[in-house]
Amino acid sequence: MKVAPSLLSADFLNLEQELISIQKAGADFLHLDIMDGHFVPNLTFGPVIIEKIAKASLLPLDIHLMVKNTLFFVDLFAPYKPRFISFHAEEEQHIHRMIQYVKSKGIGASIALNPHTPLECLDYILQDLDMVLIMSVNPGFGGQSFIPQSLEKIKRLKEKISKQNPQCLIQVDGGVNAENIDLLKTAGVDIVVAGSYIFGSKSYSQAIQSLKI
Ligand code: DX5
Ligand code: ZN
Repeated sequence: MKVAPSLLSADFLNLEQELISIQKAGADFLHLDIMDGHFVPNLTFGPVIIEKIAKASLLPLDIHLMVKNTLFFVDLFAPYKPRFISFHAEEEQHIHRMIQYVKSKGIGASIALNPHTPLECLDYILQDLDMVLIMSVNPGFGGQSFIPQSLEKIKRLKEKISKQNPQCLIQVDGGVNAENIDLLKTAGVDIVVAGSYIFGSKSYSQAIQSLKI
């Protein structure tokens, strides 16, 4: 299992040290939650901060867009060469075109699905995706509880992926911790995002290792 700590729960007055700590603790990616105050009722950070982070972090960047205007934000963050950009299916009108656009910039293309969004919206595009991000909480805030129905959804997604695009990764975001990691692994998850569980722990290293099963 790969682990992507979500910076949302980090100590923002101590960001450089936080980045060093999760790197040393064995994180695989750095998950960056971009919120615009429209798609979700919250705001996070923009290019000024991302530019600094991209310079300071050795970890590949995993950008999760929770925004209304996907294209604007893809263009804004593409220069920082993230490993993945996830954008929400609920918001983008031309998903197939956007996937190709993200990939044309050398970035892994990923679709994020809200808890209520059916997997059927991946029909006809799953073949083109590098990753699918299953939201296991409602997007907008860290520290929420894992929605149990997500597990069934992940298992069904794994079946679809095995048939249609075995290279495509499954990422799960929201309420991930040591209590549900075994179930997520069994369901077929490749990358877990964890914010409050990792940054709220005494030892980042122990927390990350407990997810790397
Ligand atoms: C929620 C974000 C998540 C969040 C996860 O909208 O997409 O990445 O930071 O936080 P935890 O792990 O605390 O649920
Ligand atoms: Zn996220």
